[in-house]
This record gives sequence, structure tokens and C-alpha cells, in this order.
Amino acid sequence: MAQETFAPPVSEWYYPSDSVKENAIVRDYESLYAEAQGDLEGFWARQAEKLDWFAPWEKVLDASEAPFYKWFVGAKTNIAYNALDRHIKTWRRNKLALVWEGEPGDKQTFSYWRLWREVNKFANVLKGMGVRKGDRVTVYMGRVPELVIAMLACAKIGAVHSVVYGGFSEHALADRIEDAQSRVLITCDGAWLRGNIVRLKDVVDEAVRRSPIVETVIVVKRTAHDIAMEQGRDYWYHDLMALPIANGNCESVEMDAEDPLFILYTSGTTGKPKGILHTHGGYQVYTSATLEWVFDLKDEDRWWCAADPGWITGHSYIVYGPLILGATSILYEGAPNQPYPNRWWKIVEEYGVTVLYTAPTAIRGLMRFGDAWPNRHDLSSLRLLGSVGEPINPEAWRWFYKVIGKERCPIMDTWWQTETGGFMISPVPSVGLKPGSATRPIPGVEVDVVDDHGVPCPPGVDGNLVIKQPWPGMLRTVYKDPDRFVKQYWTTYQDQGWYITGDSARKDDDGYFWIIGRNDDVIKVSGYRLGTAEVESGLVSHPAVAEAAVIGMPDEVRGSVIYAYCILKAGLEGSDALLDELKNHIRHEIGPIAVPARIEFVPQLPKTRSGKIMRRVLKARATGQPEGDLSTLEE
Ligand code: WTA
Repeated sequence: MAQETFAPPVSEWYYPSDSVKENAIVRDYESLYAEAQGDLEGFWARQAEKLDWFAPWEKVLDASEAPFYKWFVGAKTNIAYNALDRHIKTWRRNKLALVWEGEPGDKQTFSYWRLWREVNKFANVLKGMGVRKGDRVTVYMGRVPELVIAMLACAKIGAVHSVVYGGFSEHALADRIEDAQSRVLITCDGAWLRGNIVRLKDVVDEAVRRSPIVETVIVVKRTAHDIAMEQGRDYWYHDLMALPIANGNCESVEMDAEDPLFILYTSGTTGKPKGILHTHGGYQVYTSATLEWVFDLKDEDRWWCAADPGWITGHSYIVYGPLILGATSILYEGAPNQPYPNRWWKIVEEYGVTVLYTAPTAIRGLMRFGDAWPNRHDLSSLRLLGSVGEPINPEAWRWFYKVIGKERCPIMDTWWQTETGGFMISPVPSVGLKPGSATRPIPGVEVDVVDDHGVPCPPGVDGNLVIKQPWPGMLRTVYKDPDRFVKQYWTTYQDQGWYITGDSARKDDDGYFWIIGRNDDVIKVSGYRLGTAEVESGLVSHPAVAEAAVIGMPDEVRGSVIYAYCILKAGLEGSDALLDELKNHIRHEIGPIAVPARIEFVPQLPKTRSGKIMRRVLKARATGQPEGDLSTLEE
């Protein structure tokens, strides 16, 4: 189900200035790309050699059990060692690793030294709580420095973190705890959002009631409102960090390159979210190399990835990639327009941000408030901009380029997925740009647009976006569900051995890629990935609903919003009260982001003879478009 189509304005080119080109780390994209295609393993080995390893690999890529590819086989490493420990031995110990700005205006800065020590201390706390290598730890927090500390502390001792975005409900959290079988959970009392307290700990209490496997809850005090603390289960983070066990030294555990680093749940075609699994070795190489090429990070930069650390963008490009490169990152807790729509621009000015990476939905949201807000601020420190999460419409691209970047800053439109670990299709600063195109693949990545039989589509023709060769940042499996991993990603083009992305796309005559949108049942709401089946099963779990179908509808700011169609159980009548109840129900089942913008009660749903809901027909009706081929329709 493609969501939005942008007619590519192929004639519109934007070229970087000579100084951008000359100073870029990748000055010659074509030769770097050719180098990788000429010797893929040698190419990735050379990237890997820039990092520290406790023991070298015997083989760069092992494809003997494809699609269960292994990278840097036999090597020993730890991503936390590369992100922290190695910098402590250099001048970077004094460099800022993390600059944190809280929504109410609180500030904290962490040098590499301080961050390293806090991580060591918390790693020792976790060890003291009985967390061992391979154990899964669920993290459910707001955007606070302790979230970064918790992730790195887990990595350091070889525990597998499962970060659950703080906007998910108790039900969604409970499912993810259950799937990961986490005995330890790290959370906050609350989070600030638009001046209000999001009561995270209450959500945790309810989730743990549903998934009682959790034995220990560690609570960071952030909002300091009254919360219930259960004796023997709940501990304050600051109390634990004050204990003698919270020693400031902690060795990074020697991990196999292929040992799991984290699980991150994401939506797919079924109701149950999948636990995407990434590992220490390949992921550290891929995130750091791609970040360096695309965002050109140098020691003097101040990098701001304005995503949430709870999503893959935050994992790869707030936490791991930048720290491995020894960069200075900004982390901001709250909403872009709190208290006023200049909050972001104030941060750019105050901290001298040089590279800003965000999502189209945020750009469109800020664009709505007009140019006066950014124009009040000195944005001259910026040199590069970035976009991720959904196709960026050319209008938003141009606004970002002109009003924020003052026509000086190239926009890196990065296409990738939770599954890919890092950027897959993206410009580097030295190439020409076309608004709305993520341009060409990252060196070492081969992608194409093909039809259902695997035949490459000619330029201008829509098809399935596939990835034709393995890359170090690729997911290794779906946690505890290897069959789903194979079926979901590798079965469609089994003979060719290609990975199917679930996106439809087209190439143009210049070999530039244009992402059109998802062609499976995934909807991107404000850049957040939601499954239609997930929302549908949420609706059907309400006692009044017999059947439900949801579709994504284009929305000016959020990219897409959800429309839901519900058949009520016999004898029940739809009412405004029931509408509110259903919205509230979804808020608790999944989270506020999944609440449909519109719910309609219908007597029936368009279905195929085999009983499959034809969402395409619903969408055509909702948008007033022709309904297309209805030969299989049996309403
Ligand atoms: C979409 C986010 C167009 C795409 C990193 C993909 C994009 C899905 C872009 C993955 C982009 C991401 N242009 N579409 N630059 N970036 N997407 O797993 O549909 O949350 O398959 O990862 O977002 O979403 P996910």
C-alpha cells in the first residue's frame, strides 16, 4: 500500500559549493563506491580496521548459512569499548561527548571521561543486580542522559538492551518485556513533554503487573512527582549509583563480533511487533563508517540528531555512531515548539550546532509556524542538514534548504530501516541533490528496483526496492523467530538471494532513487512505524468491535494519519462516546501515536473472496479516487 507519491521534479538540481566539496571526507563518491564493489570484503575490512578489536577476524563475511550472514567472524570486540574506553586514552577524554538540554531548560554536559565513568558505575550496578552477559534488559525512559548511559552500560557488560520508546503504552511495553524475557527494567519516574509530565512509572507498574517476569525496576528521578515504589523490586537510580558497588571502573566484556547487542521492536505485517536483532561487530563498523561518510563528522562538529534514542535512528546516530567517531552530540528532551516554535533554532544558536539531522514531519511542523521564528536566530554555524523516516516532500526540502540552511547546507536525505542498522541510500555532501530523492546507495550497498519476478524496472517505473548484497549493519534475525526473518525478508527473492525492503521506489535516468512509500501494511505516522495489523488487533480487542480495518491517509504535517473502519458486534450502535472510548483504548493498547485520526463505524468491509480486507479499496473511497480492479471484491 503505497502511501504518497511525489512526482519527481527531476530537473531540479542543487550542487554543493566548492568549499563543501573540497572539505568533505568523501570527495569522490564514485570511486569509493567502485572500490567497495571491486572487493567488498576488503573494503569492509578496511573500515573495520579503524576500530579497536580484542582479537582480529578470521573471515570478514561468512555467507555459508545465508541469509544468516556473519560478519567479522571470530573477532572479539565490544562496541562500548569503541564508543568510550578507547577515547579515554586520548585527548578526547576532555572532549564533550554529550550535551543535554532538558525541556524546562535544564542542562548537563558530559565529557568522554564523565560519560565513561557514569557508564562504568551503572554497569557495575547492573552487575550487582545480577545482570549477566546475554541477559535482556528493557529500557523505557524519556530522552535523558541516563538512557544513553543505560544502553552503553548494558553493552559494556554484554547484556542485550531492548529500548522501548517512551510513547508506547503499558500493553505494548508488557508484550516487549514478555518477548525479551527481561528480568530487569530501567525507567524514569516521568518525562517532560510540552510542559506536562508523562507518567512513565505508572505505565511500568501496569506493564510489570501484566508481565511479572520483571524482578527489578531501576527508576531515574526526572520529574520528581509522587510515584509508588514497590519494596524489594523498585530502586532509585541515584541511590544505587551512590552505593560502593557503583565503582567507576568496569572492563568492557570481550564479546564475539556476532554476539547480540540489542533488540529493537518494530512493526511489520502481522499484529505482533518483531524484535530486530543487531550485534556488536558489524553494527559498530557500519554505523560509524556511514555516519562519517554522510554527515562528514569532524572533531570540531556539534552533531544534533533530533530523533528519539528509543528508535533506530537514535540507537545508531545519537548513541553508537557518534560516540565511536568521538563526536560531540546534542540531546534535547522535549518538543520542538516548547515553549515557543523557536526552541530548536535557539538550541542551534546556543550550542553552535553544525549538523542537524531530523525528520520531514518535524520540518513540516516547524515550517507551519513561518520563517520569522528561525529568522530571529543566528543559524550560521550549520553546515549540513539531514532528513530521515519518510520521503521528504520537495516543498519541505526547499524550506529546510532555504530558510534553515540559507542555501549553504546540503541536505542528506537518508533512506534506511530498523533492519538495516544504518544508512543505505543517501547522498554524501559532495554530490548533487534533487529534492525528494535519497540519491544513490552507500558504498558497499547494492540496491535496485525490481518487479515481482525480480526483473529490474526501467527508469521511471515503480517497483520493489531490494538490497542485493549483505552489509555489516544488517539485522541478524528476528529475535526468537528465525522463520519470520527468512519469510519476511528473504523469501520473495529467494532464488536471487536479495533482501526485500517492503518499500516501493523508482530510479530515474541519473540512477537516483526515489522512495515512494511502504508497499506492505506498514504506516508511517510522524515518521513512526506502525503496522495496520497491530492497530486492527488493538481495535478488535475492544469488546464492542467485531472487525476492523485501518489505512494510512496522507496528512500535511504527519505524512500519514490512521483512518479506521470498525464493524461493531451485533446489536451495538456507534456513538460519539464509543468513538472516544475506542481512541482511548488504542492509547492504552499501543500508545498515543497509534490513535486513529478518524474512526468510522461501517456495516461491512470490502473483502476478497478469500476474506482478505481490501485496504486499497477503502483508501480509494476515502480519497475519492477510482476504486480500480474490483474483480476479486466480495463485499
Ligand atoms: C521509510 C527509520 C523515504 C521507509 C530509519 C522505510 C524513508 C521505513 C526514509 C523504515 C527516507 C526511512 N525516504 N522513506 N529518507 N527513511 N523511510 O524502521 O519506508 O522506522 O522502509 O527506520 O521508513 O522505518 P524505520
